Amino acid sequence: MKDYMAPMEGVTNFVYRRAYHRFYHPMDKYFTPFISAKPKKNLSFQEICEVSPERNEGMYVVPQILTCNAEDFIRTAQLLKEDYGHQEVNLNLGCPSGTVTAKGKGAGFLAEPQKLDAFLDEIFSKLDMKISIKTRIGTHYEEDWDYLLAIYEKYPIHELIIHPRIQTDMYRGVPRLGAYEKAVSRLKMPLCYNGNLFSTADYKRITQRFPDTDCFMYGRGLITNPGLVSEIRDGVQPGKAVLCQFHDCLLEEYKELLSGERNVLFRMKELWSYMAVSFTNYEKYAKKIKKSQHLSDYQAAVSSLFAEQELAD
Ligand SMILES: Cc1cc2nc3c(=O)[nH]c(=O)nc-3n(C[C@H](O)[C@H](O)[C@H](O)COP(=O)(O)O)c2cc1C
Repeated sequence: MKDYMAPMEGVTNFVYRRAYHRFYHPMDKYFTPFISAKPKKNLSFQEICEVSPERNEGMYVVPQILTCNAEDFIRTAQLLKEDYGHQEVNLNLGCPSGTVTAKGKGAGFLAEPQKLDAFLDEIFSKLDMKISIKTRIGTHYEEDWDYLLAIYEKYPIHELIIHPRIQTDMYRGVPRLGAYEKAVSRLKMPLCYNGNLFSTADYKRITQRFPDTDCFMYGRGLITNPGLVSEIRDGVQPGKAVLCQFHDCLLEEYKELLSGERNVLFRMKELWSYMAVSFTNYEKYAKKIKKSQHLSDYQAAVSSLFAEQELAD
């Protein structure tokens, strides 16, 4: 069985990955939030941190690229290989955000099958690297999936990570498991399941329905409960003390890396927008955390949450 951390812009950056890897069940792969490949653009300082081996020690990190231009994809992938030693890159065909899809990228690229086919033909013929793809199953209609499967099966995709929602679902509703099932019965390449794995029970439901699936990617469920994969794989919930150490480690790293309280608070509040619900009676603490203007108020609110509440079952 293989477990992957999902790419989540603003959340699963190198700081988060490093702290996670130190305190919780290690992942087999960690995917970076997307890097936009643009003509002649070199990597920004932030992007270099995401992909450099020094900042990602001991972890198998896969850089994710967002583009609909084959030349830009190839150039960025080669740079990631030559300058940072990456042997695998991932193509983002799932981002549903309007600003991305309007430019025909992310899930928006799925609406242009001929262009997508030509793009894949070019990158697979010109790049000597493992190329994995993270995809949704269409843009507006689940029926899109049939023609996408016909395209994907033509290429030596290292691994196809499927988030079985269409673009317009955004993150709403439940994953369309019928579409995932179609992929399982039709495609020969390795598949990875992604979507709404929030608990061990969710994981079991997917493995019962798809016993041949041996690869899972975790996003919001893992940010909400960083002990989720430890629970699934080791049968133990690491508990509140570990969560507290993990939190303190993240806070310290962000304080060192970012300038100004506001930036640190922004990152930490984003995490609490997921994590708070994993505590009993969390509402009033979550409000205080959200309202905090200074690190001192923030730390007081977090300390009282840890001291006065327990992790919910
Ligand atoms: C805040 C946020 C940021 C995300 N950023 C990315 C991204 O950079 N690249 C990507 O492929 N998916 C991104 N995703 C999608 C996740 O990787 C994942 O596919 C999605 O959340 C469904 O999995 P889950 O139900 O386990 O959360 C993002 C999702 C969220 C909520």
